[in-house]
Amino acid sequence: MLGLALIYLLINKKYEWIPKPLVERARQPDLLENPAAKRCGECHETIFKAWQQSRHARAWVSETYIKDSENRSKEKCLPCHIPREVRAGRKPEPRLKLREEGIYCVPCHVARGKINGPYALYSPPHPTDKSDGHRKSVFCVPCHEKTYKEWRATGHDDTCQKCHMPRAAGRLVQNPILKYFHAPKDVADRRFPHGEIGPREIALRVDFTPGRVRVVLLNDRVPHFIPTADNGDPRLYLTVLQFDGAGERLDKTREILAPQQETALPYKKEVAFQYPLEKGARRLSVLVEYKPAWSQEKTEVLRESYDINF
Ligand code: HEC
Ligand code: HEC
Ligand code: HEC
Ligand code: HEC
Ligand code: HEC
Repeated sequence: MLGLALIYLLINKKYEWIPKPLVERARQPDLLENPAAKRCGECHETIFKAWQQSRHARAWVSETYIKDSENRSKEKCLPCHIPREVRAGRKPEPRLKLREEGIYCVPCHVARGKINGPYALYSPPHPTDKSDGHRKSVFCVPCHEKTYKEWRATGHDDTCQKCHMPRAAGRLVQNPILKYFHAPKDVADRRFPHGEIGPREIALRVDFTPGRVRVVLLNDRVPHFIPTADNGDPRLYLTVLQFDGAGERLDKTREILAPQQETALPYKKEVAFQYPLEKGARRLSVLVEYKPAWSQEKTEVLRESYDINF
């Protein structure tokens, strides 16, 4: 018992006291030779499984990416979709191996012969280094340049990680032996969740004046454009319908709000659309839908109906 407690204490509190030869013996050198994500997943199972569900894991195999990059033939598309090493302030170089892994553990964590992460800790299988960058928004800049600029301009305090890698109490490793020797720690969500869009994120207001209607949208909460993109084509669709007293449709208009058309919704700035009211219009209905970059499928963001009383 006492022996185990001592090992626990050494690993978690006084790892600098562990004799060098012992440290060397526990190392698994292939971990620094750019293995596939699955190899990291032998110990970091929770993180690996979450990453598999992320868009980062699809960056090279995504059908929309393959199409837009002309069957992956465009050189300039490679750096961010198959990076070799991610470093704050630098555009990545593309890599030659394991391309189907897209953006995986190694480019985000392995640098200068060590595995870098947010903690100062001791990991027997591989050397680690505490990095100051991993918890800051600048870590995401090399690839999410445009979104980062938008975020900076808002002056918002929350980092990209706060919303897209939320942390929860857990363990870094699930390996049956190692997990008992390492104290629990916060684990960030490696699915890189997209973020909610609903009526809370996009406020809608409709102003009627004789013969006209103004539909006003406001991105009230998301500290970058909605949608935001460096290269993909995510879109919002705003559809405004007018009906007469019998419920017959009189008019339909559709707007595309998208970064590629420079019509995405900026943070805390109202965007207004004006339409003439059709003769005899009695009801107006407003629908906002979202389409992600990698799919044609739309989901409803908000839907409202109004009576027209003059
Ligand atoms: C090496 C470049 C690179 C780095 C570094 C990077 N990303 Fe990404 N990210 C991408 C690419 C490319 C995609 C799109 C992949 C695809 O869908 O094909 C993406 C997709 C995403 C998505 C999903 C977007 C969606 O539409 O759902 C989120 C969220 C995201 N990244 C957040 C982050 C955050 C937060 C960071 C920093 C901690 C980060 N990324 C670092 C390149 C990168
Ligand atoms: C797009 C870059 C990116 C990819 C891909 C990525 N990570 Fe991370 N990782 C990060 C960032 C950023 C943090 C710091 C998150 C935080 O604490 O805010 C982190 C933190 C960690 C941590 C420390 C615990 C934690 O969650 O803070 C471990 C362990 C880790 N990553 C392992 C992995 C493994 C294993 C993979 C592959 C299955 C992987 N990461 C893929 C960027 C990445
Ligand atoms: C044989 C088991 C094992 C394998 C395989 C493994 N790791 Fe780890 N890793 C650990 C242990 C143990 C820790 C420390 C856990 C703790 O203290 O809670 C750790 C910690 C980490 C951290 C946190 C570092 C920090 O300073 O914040 C990162 C990041 C990480 N590993 C990434 C990786 C990557 C990337 C791979 C694949 C190249 C990988 N690991 C493969 C066992 C492993
Ligand atoms: C306060 C929380 C918050 C912060 C901070 C934040 N985001 Fe977002 N992000 C969201 C929400 C909510 C969405 C969903 C709405 C949307 O699509 O814009 C989103 C969507 C995205 C998307 C999906 C693109 C799309 O619109 O389809 C990407 C990529 C992204 N964010 C990257 C980032 C990056 C990079 C940063 C840091 C520079 C960041 N986000 C900061 C909340 C946040
Ligand atoms: C500077 C880094 C960077 C470069 C270079 C880059 N991308 Fe991306 N790409 C991203 C990021 C980040 C995302 C995630 C969301 C966004 O668009 O911001 C993304 C997402 C995408 C998407 C939407 C997701 C999907 O899988 O469908 C497509 C398509 C895409 N990129 C195609 C391309 C093409 C084609 C090129 C070359 C002309 C290219 N990208 C070059 C960073 C980059």
